[in-house]
Amino acid sequence: MREIAAILDFGSQYTQLIARRVREAGVYCEIVDHTLTASDIEKIKPRAIILSGGPSSVLDAGSPDIDPAVLASGLPILGICYGIQLITKKLGGAVIRGTRGEYGPATIDVLDPQTIFHGLDRSLDVWMSHGDQVESVPSGFSVLASTDSCPVAAIGDDDRRIYGVQFHPEVVHTPFGTEILRNFLFRIAGLSGDWTMSRFIEESVEKIRRQTDRSTVICALSGGIDSSVVAALIDRAIGHRMKAIFVDNGLLRKREVEEIRSIFTEDYPLDITVIDARREFLDALKGVTDPEEKRKVIGKVFIDVFRREAEKVSDAHFLAQGTLYPDVIESRSVRGGPSATIKSHHNVGGLPKELGFELIEPLKELFKDEVRRLGRELGLPPRLLERMPFPGPGLAVRVIGEVTEDNLGVLRKADAIVKEEIRKSEHYRDIWQAFAVLLPVRTVGVMGDERTYANVIALRIVASQDGMTADWVKVPYDILGRISARIINEVRGVNRVVYDISSKPPSTIEWE
Ligand code: XMP
Repeated sequence: MREIAAILDFGSQYTQLIARRVREAGVYCEIVDHTLTASDIEKIKPRAIILSGGPSSVLDAGSPDIDPAVLASGLPILGICYGIQLITKKLGGAVIRGTRGEYGPATIDVLDPQTIFHGLDRSLDVWMSHGDQVESVPSGFSVLASTDSCPVAAIGDDDRRIYGVQFHPEVVHTPFGTEILRNFLFRIAGLSGDWTMSRFIEESVEKIRRQTDRSTVICALSGGIDSSVVAALIDRAIGHRMKAIFVDNGLLRKREVEEIRSIFTEDYPLDITVIDARREFLDALKGVTDPEEKRKVIGKVFIDVFRREAEKVSDAHFLAQGTLYPDVIESRSVRGGPSATIKSHHNVGGLPKELGFELIEPLKELFKDEVRRLGRELGLPPRLLERMPFPGPGLAVRVIGEVTEDNLGVLRKADAIVKEEIRKSEHYRDIWQAFAVLLPVRTVGVMGDERTYANVIALRIVASQDGMTADWVKVPYDILGRISARIINEVRGVNRVVYDISSKPPSTIEWE
């Protein structure tokens, strides 16, 4: 029986981070909506509950609330930020509006070095981010820590096993935050932390076998980490009943098709079919310059090609998708609601329902870093697991303007040089993506004694945790210089290289 912790989400930007920290401690957890009733929550069978922070104030009418029966359930509870305030208010203490908010580093004095502060120093650096604060604790509670400006920085009731912290233990700026969470999970809730990747594999394999019975499962393999891990996991479960389809759309990087083929025939043999659909994609892209139009055309052709190939597989009732946990949470986040379409994302994880398959989504409980760990555990080779993310529409969104075979050829060469030089440098591990973009702009240059009039390549090198936000990387000048010199010397048709120094937001990572 899996040990589960439930995280009630009150809309904090850090809710996912709490979940990751809990899982890093070896405890499986799920993020659930704060509006769930105690009996809904009971169905998940949690052994511990964490209340997240949130942007609201418990003092405002209509602020996110909790079913009082959750607090009376007898389960161990830890409230973080908004969570401590809600516990205080609901159980009879008092919360006041701070005269001014407290945002940033603070040092707490630990008044009670037991329970959640067990084994830690009496003075701890923490990260605060709150407007309101607890003025008086509910009966049965005592103050466990305080700071000058926040006299009630942590509270606890040992009998009811309910605790609260005003600061954020889940962020890296609270250096001993993980220990505080572990104290709660292990010492207070009595969990053992036995959730491991090998256990996840065992459970998934069992589930996939049961779900698919004797029929065949099709995997749309993109060569990215998620779809590769899905294919490997399903292969582990049902072997030859898994058919992987890899579509070569002609928009891939240098030697990419060969590499994928060699990975899945030599390093990690799978039943893989590579479909050469280059002509079909390039024909459909003729004359298309608008970024959204490009994405739509590519998405449509992909579905046509995929449908054709899938129909050739007999007994196939299932289609595997690489949906991850953040996708699941995003679709029902308390902050959710309609957001503007910045780019219509295309990836193999988004095949339409009309294809008529039943879906298998074995990664939908996992975060990206857990998928990497799972891939390692399954024995996928590092050359696959260390690949940088690559968008579904491929190089088409990095050739600005019309996509032609010539343009793709120029970009591929430049891109390979960027990858080679970055891989050689010690910065490789800190980089989320490093690639070249071909601009439809020609500028004048001089080579030897000759005037040149050729295209510009932009370099995009960013650091990011999840692709949602990103910083441009301060790559040392000598590396940038080497990349520039090599591209201009080795790639015909390029006489200028520029470096993109924009962060996301307000820019995006890809140029289209
Ligand atoms: P943007 O350009 O939106 O990209 O800042 C964020 C991350 O997503 C990748 N990306 C895509 N991935 N299908 C994908 O699977 C797509 O259509 C797509 N568009 C962008 C991008 O490379 C970056 O890592």
